[in-house]
Amino acid sequence: MKKKLLGILIVGLLFIGLTGCGTKDDEAARRAENKVITGKIKLDYLVLVNKYTALPDDWEKKVELVEAQNAWDETIKLEKETYENYIKLKEDLEKDGVEIVLDSVYRSVSEQQELWDDWSVSKGIDYVRKYVAVPGFSEHHTGLAVDICIIKDGKLIEENDDMIAEREIFAKVHAKLADHGFILRYLEDRDDITGYAYEPWHLRYVGSTKIAKEIMDKDITFEEYIASIEDIKSNTSAAKYQIEIALQDYFKEIYGDKITNSRFNVTKIYSDEEAKDLDIELGDDDIAFEVTYQVKPAEGIDIDELTAPNGTYDEVLEWVKDKKAVGVLKNNDGEYSIENFGTGW
Ligand code: DAL
Ligand code: ZN
Repeated sequence: MKKKLLGILIVGLLFIGLTGCGTKDDEAARRAENKVITGKIKLDYLVLVNKYTALPDDWEKKVELVEAQNAWDETIKLEKETYENYIKLKEDLEKDGVEIVLDSVYRSVSEQQELWDDWSVSKGIDYVRKYVAVPGFSEHHTGLAVDICIIKDGKLIEENDDMIAEREIFAKVHAKLADHGFILRYLEDRDDITGYAYEPWHLRYVGSTKIAKEIMDKDITFEEYIASIEDIKSNTSAAKYQIEIALQDYFKEIYGDKITNSRFNVTKIYSDEEAKDLDIELGDDDIAFEVTYQVKPAEGIDIDELTAPNGTYDEVLEWVKDKKAVGVLKNNDGEYSIENFGTGW
């Protein structure tokens, strides 16, 4: 940076520092100052990754991972703020006489594949489907998921079944989670929503103690919380998830029992300007999006019978590879519907 510019910047920062705080202008200045110093964009701590929703494509570029040691002294990685708050949770629990240690945290897609393969051999495929995500669809890819083990009477408790049996200790752990921005991700008897069996060890950092408290107090899944967010125009995770749910309903309506499954991945939400450039007319609360998707025909259904909104099933498979569909989530007085689906190829 040129000396003169640096001088102006320092004088500017001094001025911001001396003029105190409280007004909107100061707030803007503080943000500008932060931007100069850190240059960081806040991570979307409410990102939803589950059995049906893949890790967003650009996530790896945004997340800042730090190193830590797990229970076996292996070097592992997790998201920076998640780790800082995990340490606070751990210290807080120590006051209650509970000792937790890290197990598995961030996992790349290939590490998830290794886990899937190893456990398929050691535990069998039915067990794996209940406890392990398909590579690309694991919350562990975000760096915000934290698997812990516990130490009881100086002994490491690490096996899933042994941990599930330690109800009293885990109740103490779960009671402290929200104070540090964590939630319990896979609740008991909620596998119809989360897609997985009860995992008392799998914690998820959501970036806000207020949101974590709401989720834990209401005893709801993360999916239910994200589905309940009303202002989806300013919450990308909620918009993405709610569009995917609406698309599932839309496909059910079109195909009925001709399909057994559909999977959607909203890859982009358009700004109002971008939608305008594509000649998509949007009402105030409508959202235009891009999505890739797959459908699975029911047994005995010829794939050619599945005429998709814009073509055959073969074409749908092609779309998954290299094309994206564009559609609009239309808000009709609080009732959402999918419209213009398949436009803008
Ligand atoms: N155990 C969770 C579901 C995962 O593999 O991501
Ligand atoms: Zn986990």
